[in-house]
Amino acid sequence: MKKIRLEPGPFVLPMPTVLIGATVNNVPNFMPVAFIGIVNIKPVIVACGLSPTHHTSSGISSNGTFSINLPGADLVEATDWCGLHSGTRTDKSKVFETFAGELENAPMIKACRLTAECRLVKTVEFPVDTVYFGEVVSVHVDEAALKDGSPDWSRIAPLLFTFPDKGYWRLGDHVAEAWSIGKKYKPL
Ligand SMILES: Cc1cc2nc3c(=O)[nH]c(=O)nc-3n(C[C@H](O)[C@H](O)[C@H](O)COP(=O)(O)O)c2cc1C
Repeated sequence: MKKIRLEPGPFVLPMPTVLIGATVNNVPNFMPVAFIGIVNIKPVIVACGLSPTHHTSSGISSNGTFSINLPGADLVEATDWCGLHSGTRTDKSKVFETFAGELENAPMIKACRLTAECRLVKTVEFPVDTVYFGEVVSVHVDEAALKDGSPDWSRIAPLLFTFPDKGYWRLGDHVAEAWSIGKKYKPL
């Protein structure tokens, strides 16, 4: 098959769609974020590529804390709305009912089946975005979304994101179990 060269783009999929929460001027603020991933397992460190000009980013920098909230398809309209408006001009604090965990100023969304609170540990600046590294301090999951004490992803049903078509997606089919299915493979 002939390969066509494209310009560099954010083409590592799937990208999640999370809502990052922070407190700005004593008010909870949320924004959807797709540039986020796990980069270390112990302690659990997440890296998020955020524009430092965002209202949420200023709250993260001043408090040193933020939250990660996984919306499902049921919250897609409210999630997208938070990406269409900035907390600099629009009060987003009434969009979601929130709860607090162990950290101050890391408001979490009750309607998200899985949320986490993070402590900012490091930032690295790039020309457009700054990478905010956060240590996950605790994770909160709806009891009904657990299976044998672990997150049941079919019940949490996190929203995913694709680019450049700007699509919101659900998780697809489960294919196989990792560190297991490969045992059947016979190298040539
Ligand atoms: C699906 C989606 C994904 C987004 N991902 C990011 C991202 O990864 N990084 C970023 O800085 N902004 C991202 N944005 C843009 C911000 O969410 C948007 O500019 C928001 O209004 C900022 O809100 P704030 O100024 O109240 O913080 C995304 C927006 C959408 C709709």
